[in-house]
Amino acid sequence: MCNEMNLEKTDNNFTPLTNKPPAKEPDRQYYFIEKCRNYIKKESERLGRPLFAATVTFGCQMNARDSEKLSGILKEVGYELTENEDADFVIYNTCTVRDNANQRVYGRLGHLNSLKKEKKHMKIALCGCMMQEPSVIEKIRSSYRFVDLIFGTHNLYKFAELLAAMFETDEMVTDIWEKTDKIVENLPTERKYPFKSGINIMFGCNNFCSYCIVPYVRGRERSRRPEEIIHEIEKLVFEGVVEVMLLGQNVNSYGKNLEEPITFAELLRRVEQIEGLKRIRFMTSHPKDLSDELIKVMKESKKICRHLHLPLQSGSTRILRAMNRRYTKEQYLALVDKIRKEIPDLAITTDIIVGFPGEELCDVDETIDVVRRVGYDNAFTFIYSRRTGTPAAAMENQVPDAVVREGFDRLLKVVQETARERVRLLEGKTMDALVEEINEQDESLVTGRLSNNTIVHFKGDAGLIGQIVPVYLKECHGFYYLGEKKR
Ligand code: 5AD
Ligand code: SF4
Repeated sequence: MCNEMNLEKTDNNFTPLTNKPPAKEPDRQYYFIEKCRNYIKKESERLGRPLFAATVTFGCQMNARDSEKLSGILKEVGYELTENEDADFVIYNTCTVRDNANQRVYGRLGHLNSLKKEKKHMKIALCGCMMQEPSVIEKIRSSYRFVDLIFGTHNLYKFAELLAAMFETDEMVTDIWEKTDKIVENLPTERKYPFKSGINIMFGCNNFCSYCIVPYVRGRERSRRPEEIIHEIEKLVFEGVVEVMLLGQNVNSYGKNLEEPITFAELLRRVEQIEGLKRIRFMTSHPKDLSDELIKVMKESKKICRHLHLPLQSGSTRILRAMNRRYTKEQYLALVDKIRKEIPDLAITTDIIVGFPGEELCDVDETIDVVRRVGYDNAFTFIYSRRTGTPAAAMENQVPDAVVREGFDRLLKVVQETARERVRLLEGKTMDALVEEINEQDESLVTGRLSNNTIVHFKGDAGLIGQIVPVYLKECHGFYYLGEKKR
């Protein structure tokens, strides 16, 4: 797909600023923020009320972080943020890793259309991974004409500029880039939690697992400079953040392509030095790149949480090869043994796919064997989804639904059993929990997260949110605990 922008028709209700936009980023975006502010102000005066905007996120933590960037711009240009989709501007930040994510977007777009029919000035935007697929753009252009703005993953930093373009035309504005090597720093963000934050340390993926669409829609690996990351975290800590989650599709290959290469382990060492920061998490680690240096840094760290997400995908070496994962069942198990020996209290979680082309029930049994031997604290199990353009989609030996279902159910049962056993091991201990929110079901309780990512609910009030407090883990309820705060 080429760089493209449809700005054919200009609606003269709005008077564009006359001076020229700067070429340099992020100055250019701040120019467009100012421009959008005028548009929002005029529209708000016309309606005699503030304008509301909703950012709706589908998919992973990377998308959640991108949505905070979108919300940051929306707030900066003068929208009041809301979670209600009956707003003046709604943006869907989409995911395409599995087809059900796509279907959910199409389903909800129908609802947005009915809202827009009632409210003519309403604007609808779509962005994120799904928009990097040419077939999706075609479908939206032909069947969802009411959408006002579409952009992809590579030009999210241009959101203010695209918003301004959207206000200046009645046509659908489309701007999709095939790739980028650009990382624009220092744009506004609106964080969901005051005390914890995700931080992108890299974008894209070079691994090309044969089932996965991510390398096609997120592009090649690009690492942020360590100075920029440290600076961002220092600023967040100054604002009250105590826990950060370093985000990348494969954090273990962080820094390899920088002008001055640096390892992920070294980045962690530097982040650890930041005064006032209490907890460090990261996601996701590819087993093939997990170094001894990283294990050492985790072991010695006072701040890195006792949790590692280590996607297995399959326990069958034959299937792993077809998936292009570049490790065998035995290598994965040996890696887990090594990690467990060094850091015995580490919780390990994983992702598993069932139904990859050519998979038989005996392969699922190999996966189940790994699940039993590792004893995951949690495992996210997915049914294989055929993604157009990936090598696996072209494989002829796609697995019949009934076989997939049988394997999936068999696996899920074991995953649940083993996870319960693991989580129960903490019963009777007292551990530190970071209090995240008031419990949704019972307002007299707060919900906290242990270093190993286990959730605990206990008596408390809003004053505790953002604090790290010791909690007695009284009763294990499967995947979570009911506890009591210690004085
Ligand atoms: N089908 C099913 N699951 C997938 N994942 C990635 N691609 C697919 C696919 N085509 C899963 C992997 C990955 C997680 C984020 O999503 O398990 O680790
Ligand atoms: Fe997809 Fe594999 Fe990259 Fe993860 S490592 S994003 S599964 S290609």
